[in-house]
Amino acid sequence: MSTAFSLDNRLKLCAAYVRQGSKLADIGTDHAYLPVWLCRIGRISRAIAADINPEPLKRGQSTVAQAELSGVIETRLSDGLANIDGTEADDIVIAGMGGELIAKIISDWKYSRDSSKRFILQPMTKSEVLIRRLTENGFKILSQDCCTASKKCYTVLLVQYTGERPVTDETYFYIGGLSPKTNSTHLRFIEEELERLSKMAAGDVRFAALAERIREKVYDKNK
Ligand SMILES: C[S@@+](CC[C@H](N)C(=O)[O-])C[C@H]1O[C@@H](n2cnc3c(N)ncnc32)[C@H](O)[C@@H]1O
Repeated sequence: MSTAFSLDNRLKLCAAYVRQGSKLADIGTDHAYLPVWLCRIGRISRAIAADINPEPLKRGQSTVAQAELSGVIETRLSDGLANIDGTEADDIVIAGMGGELIAKIISDWKYSRDSSKRFILQPMTKSEVLIRRLTENGFKILSQDCCTASKKCYTVLLVQYTGERPVTDETYFYIGGLSPKTNSTHLRFIEEELERLSKMAAGDVRFAALAERIREKVYDKNK
């Protein structure tokens, strides 16, 4: 195999959640680094690398061809999961897009409510909107982790449909499945969200109250 690249920490975190032997769909694949890397380490044996735009898809095709994996990784034009059949993917990665777009892609796919599917989601923005929509629609966060890459902090969610809609308050959409009391990277991610809320509080004081409630949960040892 001739292509030499390594995954950044963000995509490594996504890769860690992919199940051994699963059929992967990487939505918004761009260079197709993730499916190629997962095939190389033997985690998966089949993948669809999909993108809505022809140019990124061409980059993906080139990575796949150079890695001599065209027989097992199919590149496909697709708006979200629109061109992916339910039989074609067990684990679906949607990384590097905004939280609202990721939520829409999941809600538009008719197979999303199949609880054998797992979604691995890496929102670049608005993770709280994504978590709210997932929770309201019966998707459960099985695990959530954070990493730093290029001096920024990112979060990745592992999600599955269960149909349960737990009663949550708004702080949950910011804290989700993170463990800020024991994990400093999780804490850093939440602190960056709190900073964002503080800026928004200048225009709407309700954000200040929300930030305070999140701080209470994160820093109060009894909660
Ligand atoms: C920033 S890149 C992320 C690439 C890679 N997933 C990563 O995380 O490094 C976002 C990619 O998503 C694609 N994209 C945006 N909207 C999409 C949609 N609705 N369906 C499929 N792909 C989409 C873009 O064309 C682009 O290639």
